[in-house]
Amino acid sequence: MTPSVVIVSNRLPISIKRTDHGLEFYPSVGGLATGLAAYVNDKRNKWIGWPGIASDDLTKSEREEITLELRKSNCYPVFLTQKQLDDYYSGYSNSILWPVFHDLEVRPDALEQHDKWWKAYKSVNSAFAGVVLALSDNNSTIWVHDYQLMSLPLMLRAVRPRAKIGFFLHIPFPSLKHFKQIPSAKRLLDGILGCDLVGMHTKRYTDNFLKACTDLTRDLVAPGQVIQGTHITRVTDFPMGIDYERFSKARELSAVKKEYRKHQRKYKGLRVILTVDRLDPTKGLVERLEAYQEFLRQNKPIRGKVIMVMLAVPSRTEIIEYKELKDHVEQLVADITKEFGTKTWQPIDYMYTTIPVESVTALYQVADVAFITPIRDGMNLVAKEYIASRPRRDGVLILSSTAGAAQELTDALIVNPKKQESMVDALYKAVKMPKRELRERVTNMHAHISTHTVQSWAKTFMGTLQKPLPGSAARTTRSLTRDRQQDVIDGLRRARHPAIFLDYDGVLAPHIINPAKAVPTKTVMAVLEKMSHIPNLDMAIISGRSKDDLMAWLGDLPIPLVAEHGACIRGESVKPSAKSKGRGAVTPLNLAWKRLTKTSPQWQFDVEPILEKYAANTPGSHVEAKDYSLVWHFRGASPYYAQKNLVILRRILKRHIASYGLEMHTGDKILEIKPSDVNKGVAVERLLNEWNKKSPVDFILCLGDDYTDEDMFEVLPTNAYTIKVGRGPTAARLRAKSVDETHNLLKKLVRLR
Ligand code: UDP
Ligand code: G6P
Repeated sequence: MTPSVVIVSNRLPISIKRTDHGLEFYPSVGGLATGLAAYVNDKRNKWIGWPGIASDDLTKSEREEITLELRKSNCYPVFLTQKQLDDYYSGYSNSILWPVFHDLEVRPDALEQHDKWWKAYKSVNSAFAGVVLALSDNNSTIWVHDYQLMSLPLMLRAVRPRAKIGFFLHIPFPSLKHFKQIPSAKRLLDGILGCDLVGMHTKRYTDNFLKACTDLTRDLVAPGQVIQGTHITRVTDFPMGIDYERFSKARELSAVKKEYRKHQRKYKGLRVILTVDRLDPTKGLVERLEAYQEFLRQNKPIRGKVIMVMLAVPSRTEIIEYKELKDHVEQLVADITKEFGTKTWQPIDYMYTTIPVESVTALYQVADVAFITPIRDGMNLVAKEYIASRPRRDGVLILSSTAGAAQELTDALIVNPKKQESMVDALYKAVKMPKRELRERVTNMHAHISTHTVQSWAKTFMGTLQKPLPGSAARTTRSLTRDRQQDVIDGLRRARHPAIFLDYDGVLAPHIINPAKAVPTKTVMAVLEKMSHIPNLDMAIISGRSKDDLMAWLGDLPIPLVAEHGACIRGESVKPSAKSKGRGAVTPLNLAWKRLTKTSPQWQFDVEPILEKYAANTPGSHVEAKDYSLVWHFRGASPYYAQKNLVILRRILKRHIASYGLEMHTGDKILEIKPSDVNKGVAVERLLNEWNKKSPVDFILCLGDDYTDEDMFEVLPTNAYTIKVGRGPTAARLRAKSVDETHNLLKKLVRLR
């Protein structure tokens, strides 16, 4: 069953305005609102967003009225003051992010206000977080939308570590050069990376996003993933579709039929060239009008036979660029009308208004040509809606190569919106296109949009968000609450032959920048010492560290130590059962290390020089040669070079990995190569076998924090207390939040006996 979803976007699908008759509720305009409207009809979902009116303009009882009315459509308002809207919405979101993300210039005076606006952006994102948290719980699925809310995923993650959080960007993600202009660029990435899954309309946008992460964060970027320690954010392109049925069936509605007939009468005898856009600088309206003007200049016989029907929807009217653009567009419309208009023919029918989507479909039906040439557009749903609304499979779509939709609608006449001749030629071709050709083109596009709908888009996104990462088990992991800690303590108290497996880094010692300094604290040593003397208890430390590190720090403990993820072991059977030797008795340790891997060490001679060569090419990185494995550490290197060389290295090493029987892992700023016949799981099974020979082990506790520990969790029986420390997918039963929480548990355990 699809889960219920909390959808969060700046704008709700319903907006409110004040009229002479009181508050009026009307459907919002814009791809996000119309596109997702189909998805929210499911009563189990909730949609949180701004209702389109400043809260200063509302009395308390009006706010209550709005809240109650919106609730009927599963919508929950976030009220924002005019000041918040000025700084967060008109300022940071629409005067900085919007132009930068569409590769347009930002006004210098806008950039000067960056710091003030960024503060407002964070504070409004945090106001949204408050409402989301009130309406969700730890098991919720939360889907955050668009550039106005990029800080929200991280804010939610901090409070809801187990919630599934998705983020979808409805606009393009710009090239690194453009993105870096924003002073808060890195903070935006950090915000987005709080989620589990990032979706964008095209691969080009996700590639740009991953490049930005490589350059600006210290996180590890792999194909389609950004890895922050144990937290992984997947990044994939999901091109958004439309509600195909709604548009293809609209002609059956009597209101639409009526409007269509009205348009037919009005434009009788003319070829209709339609443009539908919000009045926005990204939509290329000026360039489009100029192209139409040039088309009329060059093609005298066509005058009097065509009409450009231009629906320009009022948008962001408080922002200066939008005001200036309106003046410019209206001036051009007047100029063209003056230049070519006659008593019986107007070249343009210009409408500056918002109409319901159903009325837009009547325009689509009457239009012979849809002329959609944004300078840059995340997707552009109008292009898809036009095709879906053409029941007779006719009509010509002219579309910019720079709209996301052009990646899918390849049968459109694709134009360069910055090259006038490209648009003029397309207009000419469109009005002259033979019927057979246009039917064929529209039929092909129909086939695509009728199968790639908004419903299938949302389903695919949600399906990917719910799916565990490949390789991770789908067991339910619960947090290590006080009650569950007590279960562990009680289990140990009752056990006759308990066993404990502990990872070192991330469990006994926190991860720090210089791993050589992650020495165990006195408290940890005291706990381990005490634990190692608990009668009947067998324990081992299972680490990826070299045997030298383990010997230096833990060598005095009378317990088995496993180094290099199971490649070698010390003291496999050092501790006889209390029964045979008496309470607390311990035999002297056998300090000899035993090699467990059967892989020939020859591989290291071949692979190490390759790693060294790339380490030399990546300043700040180095190679660690352990006895049985090799690790390339690149935490100190420039993320750009590290990432680049990581990709090359992985490719080069593939052959050696296959021929020697090795494994290659990318972890927290490392690339590790080790024999594949050993892992921590194999070591744990081996020790358990040994210990079971004394008497059956009847209690197992195992703590680990990273992907190499998953091998232990996976081989242990389901009644074992397996505990993952920190975030990320896991096969463990329980999850501790931090190293501190782990230490508390261990301290409680040794107070036991
Ligand atoms: N639209 C509308 N009323 C209008 C004009 C447009 O509802 O008067 C809708 C249109 O049907 C489309 C959306 O607004 O669904 C515009 O989405 P698009 O992706 O093309 O552009 P965006 O506005 O998101 O940049
Ligand atoms: C684009 C954005 C949406 C936005 C819409 C309308 O589609 O991606 O997030 O809602 O434009 O803009 P507005 O500022 O009026 O919400």
